[in-house]
Amino acid sequence: MKRNEFLHLTGAGLGAVALSSACSLLDAPEMRVCTLAELEAVPYRIEKFNGRKIFLTLREGNVVIFSLICRHKRCTVAWEESREQFECPCHEGVYDREGEVVDGPPPAPLHRFKHEIRDGDVWVLNAYEG
Ligand code: FES
Repeated sequence: MKRNEFLHLTGAGLGAVALSSACSLLDAPEMRVCTLAELEAVPYRIEKFNGRKIFLTLREGNVVIFSLICRHKRCTVAWEESREQFECPCHEGVYDREGEVVDGPPPAPLHRFKHEIRDGDVWVLNAYEG
């Protein structure tokens, strides 16, 4: 195999790995977001993790971290507090407060990030639940 053929195949393989997971190879594996007390003091927080928006909240006392990336064509969805739903501005996709699709073209629920509570701090992990 010639050198440039090898580099082409290797690059294609790495690209496939990056696209098939929640992240790229350059993404941080985890990030401390806030303290649990800070999250408990507000209805929700919107932060950035690896350059993409995430939505943190408590559901029945449990931390939940949604990706705000639409499952249709990857636009950033917005939380609409008054309607308690996530809305996508691109093609009118709508997700309920649990991230389930209720209207529009998204083929799947919003991803939820895995997380850990360490010494009272909330850490988001670069992996999806489920
Ligand atoms: S990108 Fe969100 S509905 Fe199309």
